Amino acid sequence: MQQTLFIANWKMQKTLTQSIEFCSTNLTSLKKLSVDTATELVICPSFPSLYSLNEILADTPVHLGAQNCSPHESGAYTGQVSAESLKEAGCNYCIVGHSEQRMYNGVTDQDVAQAANNLCKNGIVPIICIGETKEQFEKNSALAVLEKQLDPVLSLLKNTKQPIIIAYEPVWAIGTGIIPETTYLKKIFEHLNALFEKIHSGPWRIIYGGSVSEQTIPSFKDISAVTGFLIGGASLDFQKFEKIVSLGK
Ligand code: PGA
Repeated sequence: MQQTLFIANWKMQKTLTQSIEFCSTNLTSLKKLSVDTATELVICPSFPSLYSLNEILADTPVHLGAQNCSPHESGAYTGQVSAESLKEAGCNYCIVGHSEQRMYNGVTDQDVAQAANNLCKNGIVPIICIGETKEQFEKNSALAVLEKQLDPVLSLLKNTKQPIIIAYEPVWAIGTGIIPETTYLKKIFEHLNALFEKIHSGPWRIIYGGSVSEQTIPSFKDISAVTGFLIGGASLDFQKFEKIVSLGK
């Protein structure tokens, strides 16, 4: 039985000191939470915190993830971080193609596929974010948008046997407190699963992200295709995160 995945995306919200403090203070509770709920927990802090958090979380079932990865393997790319380097820092997971990266840093669908491919080659599970904007949602073009975003991923990673994660995050749901209707989500997940079943040869799973909170998490109980969550704002506070995991497991 697959464990439900809860990924904390801390974005640029915690400094190194705050990240260390969160993990040190809540270390026993984090371990207990993961074991008691039989869930898989992943914490994605910003780059400078990875090394220290890896040391703190080393003997726990809690995994470490990064928030981005370069599409390049190595070279003269100032400001970028390679998959190999993330592996050395202790990452088992890495978010790629988050809508904030696509929006503010010009990350393209091709970049996302290349970064995901580099991660797979280094044994890191890519968490590939896709999602339509509010405008695209209103035009009813979400499925076409998602397929376009996934196109290079499906061709480049077609033959990989490494696990990959797709995080469906409608842009209009991120940080807004609004989540999609159950019927809408079911349709999207069904479509994505059918697409991967047809084209992809390795293991994959699809998770949901966007305004996951203790208030919204019960709404996902009915949707068995949702096998995990990418949580932003509500993951910054341990008590809130714990509540979400306990309610959503
Ligand atoms: P949110 O962010 O939970 O604060 O909506 C989710 C995300 O951007 O991954």
